[in-house]
Amino acid sequence: MTVLALETSCDETAVAILRRGDDHSGPELLASEVASQIAAHERYGGVVPEIASRNHLLYAPRLLDRTTSAAKIGLSDLDAFAATSGPGLASSLMIGASIAKGLAIGFGKPYLPINHLEGHLLSPFFGGEDRDEQIRSNISLIVSGGHTLLVRVHALCDYEVVGRTVDDAAGEAFDKVAKMLGLGYPGGPEIEKRAHGGDPKRFDLPRSMPASQNFSFSGLKTAVRYLLPKIGVIPNKDEGSRSRNLDHGVPTRDQSSYERSFAFAQDDTLLRDLCASFQQAIIDVLVAKTIASAQKYDVNLVTVSGGVSCNEELRRQLREACDRRGFEFKSAENWLCTDNAAMIAFAALLRLRTGFKSKVTEEIDPNLALVR
Ligand code: KG4
Ligand code: ZN
Repeated sequence: MTVLALETSCDETAVAILRRGDDHSGPELLASEVASQIAAHERYGGVVPEIASRNHLLYAPRLLDRTTSAAKIGLSDLDAFAATSGPGLASSLMIGASIAKGLAIGFGKPYLPINHLEGHLLSPFFGGEDRDEQIRSNISLIVSGGHTLLVRVHALCDYEVVGRTVDDAAGEAFDKVAKMLGLGYPGGPEIEKRAHGGDPKRFDLPRSMPASQNFSFSGLKTAVRYLLPKIGVIPNKDEGSRSRNLDHGVPTRDQSSYERSFAFAQDDTLLRDLCASFQQAIIDVLVAKTIASAQKYDVNLVTVSGGVSCNEELRRQLREACDRRGFEFKSAENWLCTDNAAMIAFAALLRLRTGFKSKVTEEIDPNLALVR
């Protein structure tokens, strides 16, 4: 059984081909390609949906060629076609889903619409033994640029969302604060790089802990914004005024960027300490809420996925917190944390095992929920 999957939910075009072995030895990734569009959107200060969909149209056929050549397989030899059907940008989702549906219809093979969040949620299990029972009961923290969710996973296809952000996603907070500081996009890796060696206790930033299992990160972002002038840093002007989809910009070279640089040049630990303090505030909340959920539901496995889970410090601290309580901890490799098609192909392979039927008539849904 060999599946080809496309992922085009936002601004990455990705195609992967994954084969399930007959001996349950785990899936073999035959090819995986991701074409990033960051450069195409930078000058507009955010992801422009029309440019994203035009680029998906341009890149997807090239990636189909590259992945099938790398996998040494013809399109007609594939057993199923899958695509992300939501959540995401409608005009982006449409491209990947239409291509996968066209191929499925053309070659008379099944089409599987896959939820992007399920792709992330299953990614920590990628590469393990190829059995759907491997997806055992766990508390799953999904932390990306668009989502922050705590999911109680009972088994494959049996999920319960027990917590979510009520405002910004964790990755969105990283991106917005990075932008305030005049750093590049995506902000998470930029902040992590500078946080290295910084003092996470130098700045006392708020940890929002709503009584529910929900998250809230907008107060933290605002606290950074108010802190900056007090420490002599002029925040980048247009931070946070636009929604995430229009907030992927690079800083403009204005007067404030010189003043920012001047403040950081005066105190070379300022930026590092600020990044470390901000990163630690996010980590404290994510770790506390995830551990509390695992305890509440008496689950002994914790998993983490999504772009923010590339953050080494988050993984280290979450792993340590799990070790202290005797919970097993699983995370995906970095290349599987950010958006990719291998996780979509993996979800498709697992779903095919459950007797999932072809769904060529299923529409994309930009607001697709993990649990329907
Ligand atoms: O999963 P992803 O690629 O896309 C979405 O589904 O949103 O996640 C992208 C997000 C961005 O907000 C980016 O800043 C964040 O993941 N991110 C990180 C790191 N690497 C990526 N956040 C913190 N630390 C990182 N090392
Ligand atoms: Zn994602």
